[in-house]
Formats: sequence, C-alpha cells, structure tokens
Amino acid sequence: MTERSLVLIKPDGVQRLLVGRVISRFEERGLKLVGLKLLQVSRELAERHYAVHADKPFFPGLVAFMTSSPLVAMAIEGPNAIGVVRTMVGATRPWEAAPGTIRGDLALEVAQNLIHASDGAETAEAELALWFPEGTLAYTREIDRWALAPGG
Ligand code: RTP
Ligand code: MG
Repeated sequence: MTERSLVLIKPDGVQRLLVGRVISRFEERGLKLVGLKLLQVSRELAERHYAVHADKPFFPGLVAFMTSSPLVAMAIEGPNAIGVVRTMVGATRPWEAAPGTIRGDLALEVAQNLIHASDGAETAEAELALWFPEGTLAYTREIDRWALAPGG
C-alpha cells in the first residue's frame, strides 16, 4: 500500500552537512520525495510535533534542540513507506541502532539522533498536516508507472 511519512533531518544533521546523504538513502531505496523544505522551527511547532512527550523530563531540552538551528522537513512516499522508513532510521538510542540504519551508521547520542520519522498511519497523517499545511505534491514517476501498470 502506498503510504506517506513525515521525516525530519534534525538540526544536528543539518549542522553536520548530512542532508544529502540522508535523502540519498531514501531515494536509493526507491522512496520518493513529495515535499521538501529547510526551515527554522518555531517553539510552537516543535511543541506540537512532540506533544506526546510533553510530560517527559527530556521535553524542554528536545524543544530547545529542535528550535536551535534549521532543520529539513520532508514528505516521503512509497510502498509501505511508514514502516520502511522507521526501519531505515533505526532505534531511538543510536547505540542500540543496528549498523546499516541511519542512526546506527551516523549517530551516537539520543538527544542528537539525527532524524525523525512518523511511527504510524495516524501520526503520519497528523504530522504531514502539521509540517505541510499547504499540502504535498502528487506525481508519478515513469518507474512507478512500469511497476503499477506493466504494459500499460
Ligand atoms: P522521533 O520521534 O524523533 O522520530 O524519535 P523516536 O520515535 O525514535 O523516539 P521517541 O520516543 O518518539 O522520542 C522522541 C525524541 O526525543 C528524544 N529523546 N531523548 N534524553 C532522552 O532520554 C530522550 N529520549 C528521547 C530523542 O531525540 C527522540 O528521537
Ligand atoms: Mg517518536
């Protein structure tokens, strides 16, 4: 099933100049960008994005970090994209993330774990609406046309 996921390259990823490498991983896998922007996040947006963690002790630091410097927000589309992207991202604590995952290869600290990805269908829908209120693009690549309608 074609799905869309909201992915953030957090401020540490932008600071470390890893934006291109992270995007490449998704594109190499066959996932498609349908939304992409670089932005400085407001406190309100960061708090709404991580509202589920509002009571956690790390919440103030998390919001401060997310607003500290620009980040990249993207909408990624593909077959089973939500689960595929979460698997590619790896475990929350980078020291527990498997090699081959983005966090397992490129991060070491939980507070600077490089990337966020939607964790389910409902959160993906809510997060995409939050980060892309103007909507995302819809387009068909030739390679998708071949996959979806062989001979068509
Ligand atoms: P994310 O939401 O950013 O994709 O990360 P996640 O699902 O893998 O992990 P989640 O439990 O949702 O935690 C959100 C983010 O909060 C920071 N965190 N810090 N200091 C800590 O113990 C701690 N625990 C979580 C991380 O940046 C994590 O990605
Ligand atoms: Mg999360």
